[in-house]
Amino acid sequence: MTTQWHAEAIWEAVAPQWPTFSVEVLPEIDSTNSELMRRARAGQFAPVLLVAERQTGGRGRLGRSWQSDTQGALTFSLGLPLQPRDWSGLSLAVGLSVAACLHPTLQLKWPNDIWLQGRKLAGILIETASVGEVRYVVIGVGINITTPNATGLTTPPAALSELLPGIDAPAALARVAVPLITAVRHFEAEGFSGLQLAFNTRDALLGQSVQCSDGTVGMARGVNAQGALLVQTAAGIKKITSAEVSVRPSGAPTPPDLLSL
Ligand code: BTN
Repeated sequence: MTTQWHAEAIWEAVAPQWPTFSVEVLPEIDSTNSELMRRARAGQFAPVLLVAERQTGGRGRLGRSWQSDTQGALTFSLGLPLQPRDWSGLSLAVGLSVAACLHPTLQLKWPNDIWLQGRKLAGILIETASVGEVRYVVIGVGINITTPNATGLTTPPAALSELLPGIDAPAALARVAVPLITAVRHFEAEGFSGLQLAFNTRDALLGQSVQCSDGTVGMARGVNAQGALLVQTAAGIKKITSAEVSVRPSGAPTPPDLLSL
């Protein structure tokens, strides 16, 4: 059976403001992010939404792989030229937009994982290519529609179908695609600061003891106006800015000297 991806409806919603925008659906590709990065390096900077029904080499953050079952996941990348004054907070703005379009109960785990009750429902991988003056951003999104095999996953998985029974990948794309494009263009004009409160409202780590891969240990205190994660340590507030740092709840009770801070 051919999958109906609502590609035309998405294009029709975006094209009036952005005539060069296109939507492409491929039955199979190694990775939608890799494909758009290859195109950008070859000088193709047109705004595009690339959806793959199957990825054979999906990639995640921090050099990890991203595995997803056909039908059981939505995998797509949005590629577009972008010129914000300040790039900080882009990944948080993307996560916020995707989470808000999917369900009010979803939370964000800094910088941009989407969690359902402590389990990972979606991941986001943002990459950029610069050619001359142009900076092209590729925003890859992978959403579990049904529960994937948990083998080898560092965080237990969750699925959108737990919240929205019967939802499929095209219906999930129809919910997130157009608002995501709007959110990214809004970020380009306005930056992250106006989203700080919305992020902190969905922050899965807020008030939790966390452990960061750079050795920082403390209590998560939300994000600042630039999207940096604030961690209350014994030596004061530390700002975590690098997406290369991974953060996880340590599960440890909060040390008494941090409780009053
Ligand atoms: C992560 O959680 O580490 C990020 C996962 C991002 C996965 C998506 S699926 C579509 C796009 N293509 C990829 O190869 N990766 C992203």
